[in-house]
Amino acid sequence: MNFKRLALALCVTAACAQPTFAAETAAAAASQKPAAVKAVAQLSVTEAPFGKLPSGESTTLFTLTNANGVVVKATNYGGVITSMITPDKSGNMADIVLGFDNIDGYLKNKSYYGALIGRYGNRIGKAQFAIDGKTYNLDKNDSANHLHGGSKGFWAVLWDAKSFKTANSVGITLTHTSPDGDQGYPGNLKATVVYELTNNNEFTITYGATTDKPTHVNMTQHPYFNMVGKGSILNQELYINGSKYTPVDSGLIPTGELAPVAGTPFDFTKAHTIGQMIGQTNEQLKNGGGYDHNWVLNKKTADEWGLDARFSDPVSGRTLEVYSDEPGIQFYSGNFLEGKVEGKGVKFEYRGAICLEPQHYPDTPNKPKFPSTLLKPGEEYKSKIGFKFVAK
Ligand code: GLA
Repeated sequence: MNFKRLALALCVTAACAQPTFAAETAAAAASQKPAAVKAVAQLSVTEAPFGKLPSGESTTLFTLTNANGVVVKATNYGGVITSMITPDKSGNMADIVLGFDNIDGYLKNKSYYGALIGRYGNRIGKAQFAIDGKTYNLDKNDSANHLHGGSKGFWAVLWDAKSFKTANSVGITLTHTSPDGDQGYPGNLKATVVYELTNNNEFTITYGATTDKPTHVNMTQHPYFNMVGKGSILNQELYINGSKYTPVDSGLIPTGELAPVAGTPFDFTKAHTIGQMIGQTNEQLKNGGGYDHNWVLNKKTADEWGLDARFSDPVSGRTLEVYSDEPGIQFYSGNFLEGKVEGKGVKFEYRGAICLEPQHYPDTPNKPKFPSTLLKPGEEYKSKIGFKFVAK
């Protein structure tokens, strides 16, 4: 039962001018309902205070619930997804996203937990790029490099948010204008991002943006997933639909090479546990401190919609499928988690979660051979990620 993209779709929100998933039949959706979750849940979206920012501004937590009892929670601060509560094959629910109960946890711990990443996901080497012969210097927030849009990137700003409800879905529309020069980027960038949870157990994120000067845009999402909800992820299984990856230097900047995964610990074309080869002696694993690399997805075009990755707990069967229309996916195996931070009653242990971030390749502005991230005035940036919650 794969996601399908429709060329023409019924749209209810601002950023919905682009294709979306086809609705599955009611029968197919019903067959997905875990046995133990009786139909007590109702499609709903609610709002609650989530705490104040140092500026005195209030943040809000939105709770999206579908008819199968699947819950996604997100806040307007950094577009952070704080929870995804999903079933296993027996219908037992677990929260598969590391996060915090209130805004203070996110203000104290700045590892992009659950966050909406922009303007640019992952690293830009030397925090610099040139457009039309002019060099732009970006915020250096990762040694000499620029990471995840800078220290005041999209993950660290308060978005305007409005909830919506349709016959088959609930969601929120987030809007934010990043001014010319923000974090060093050229152009006033108007961004709209739509989070939508459907009764088919799909959660989609639709990104849109326009600019008034040529600039680079590469938005993604940064939830830390653990398919049990706690503990190590080393015994959880991963599949990635990528036969190549982009090797990195010791600063995690791609070398520009597209290297085959076959015969290396980077081969996830057949699902296996993350722990199976992570301990091998391998220069790339050393550079990443584990997995912290971009996979080149097996797609015919850079914007083809398809299944990028599947992450599952082989014991309970709780599974996450990641879809996108992006050419790459960053798989980060939680190598910087140290077990010192705790949120929602869970210790964030070393390799206690992974991030799967569909995106264009890191450092594309400085790698002319990578699929381009340049956005010009008059063009519309469009990109979409789909998370599908299944039980196998
Ligand atoms: C990304 C990067 C990692 C790390 C995490 C956040 O996934 O690739 O190197 O910076 O974000 O800690």
